[in-house]
Amino acid sequence: MTRDGSDLHLELPPEGPRRPALVRALREAVRSGRLAGGTRLPPYRALAADLGIARGAVADAYAELVAEGWLTARQGSGTRVPEGLARAEGMGEGMGEGAGKSAARAEGPADGMARAAGPAPAASPARFDLAQGKPDPAAFPRTAWAASARRAVLAAPSDAFGPGDPRGRPELRRALASYLARARGVRADPDRVVVCSGFANALRLLAAVRPRDWAVEGYGLPFHHGILDAAGIRPHPVPVDDDGARTDLRDVLASPVRTLLLTPAHQFPTGATLHPSRRAAAVEWARSHPGALVVEDDYDGEFRYDRKPVGALQGLAPGHVVYAGSLSKSLSPAIRLGWLVLPDGVRDEVLAAKGVRESWAGAPDQLALADFLECGAYDRQVRRMRQRYRDRRDRLVAALAAGAPEVRVTGIAAGLHAVLELPPGTEPAALEAARAAGIALDGLSGYRHPAHPATSAGTVREGLVVGYAALPDRAFTEALAALVRVVAEVTRAT
Ligand SMILES: Cc1ncc(COP(=O)(O)O)c(C=O)c1O
Repeated sequence: MTRDGSDLHLELPPEGPRRPALVRALREAVRSGRLAGGTRLPPYRALAADLGIARGAVADAYAELVAEGWLTARQGSGTRVPEGLARAEGMGEGMGEGAGKSAARAEGPADGMARAAGPAPAASPARFDLAQGKPDPAAFPRTAWAASARRAVLAAPSDAFGPGDPRGRPELRRALASYLARARGVRADPDRVVVCSGFANALRLLAAVRPRDWAVEGYGLPFHHGILDAAGIRPHPVPVDDDGARTDLRDVLASPVRTLLLTPAHQFPTGATLHPSRRAAAVEWARSHPGALVVEDDYDGEFRYDRKPVGALQGLAPGHVVYAGSLSKSLSPAIRLGWLVLPDGVRDEVLAAKGVRESWAGAPDQLALADFLECGAYDRQVRRMRQRYRDRRDRLVAALAAGAPEVRVTGIAAGLHAVLELPPGTEPAALEAARAAGIALDGLSGYRHPAHPATSAGTVREGLVVGYAALPDRAFTEALAALVRVVAEVTRAT
């Protein structure tokens, strides 16, 4: 729906620079919902005349808000307010000032979901959202997804619209089993696949069926730490280094640990691939301890840029590894679809924990994804985004090499985020400088599990966690320049 907003009431303070005042006033009008989704803003000249300011100031203000995502501009249809931005819930995700709190969030980092669920923050404005956790929302393949949804819903048998099955639709379980075997080396048959609404949901289910004796990587997503904590689980933290989790340390997997949560393809967030000898050690541990299980979070396993991705750990020991995947990085975290490939006994427990209906994913989305996988659209999208994100990462690495060569980008060339390792003691200053420069991002220390010592094996890990996938191109270029200035200043001051 479109609305003509040419008669626009905005109040600017009587004094001070005009462009920033107009940016603030427009942002507030969109955020509060006063300018509804679809509203077309007045032409530059008309608004400039109404407000008694220069036409260029209006043009610049619109451009800034377009870069931040508060407005959209299309040839021939003018500048508009996108649908669905108003404040009520969750302005946190990737939207300029809305994301501002993540620059150095007092409560530490969360994933996009957790931020989105909170109230809109009132912290200082952030022009550039480099907080990790988000794929490029503008790259969602709308046409292909809509085609799959239409085809799948029209072709589905009537029982698809009945009460459903906690395992998920058979069409999707078949499509996933074949995709995961082909692309990720998972040993999956449709009977062992259980569809869920994402990794967070999977972790809650696993925490419910295995309520104690967990180990987690010393660095991970605080939101996931919170899920375990809420289930009463106090996990044992496993140190991580440039070869991933230290599954080789004898005491690390000492009894009574029975469930080990790992990100083998790309340690989150520090970026290592689990070394082959540590993969072997994890599997050996699971095999040799009755009831032991590795949970493999393969959250961005498709996005490896320097070589073919390593296959899933699950392929080595399907009876001892739970494989978990999700659409949240490859397609969109908004769809809320994920999957588990489970050893037999665990599958039955997880299905029982799903209960009646509460924890199930919707059948129409499942059917759409099954079609999307089967017709090759998922592979095409992953290939397209791999190219895009690889380019983003290369630009980040090159800009740092040129402007702040003392900063190391940790981990492999993969994923949608990178960690810029900083000299010990500089992370707080870097976060402060980033905030002052209008950059929203998190510090690495916020991802440390609370039970994991800040100093491990003699090293303190500090850094910035940079999400490079979500910003529009122009804003990314500017954000990169601002980021390099920040880290160059901070590291040179040491
Ligand atoms: C480490 C990690 N695991 C898993 C996921 C996927 O979570 P979900 O499927 O709940 O969106 C994410 C975020 O996308 C993540 O950062």
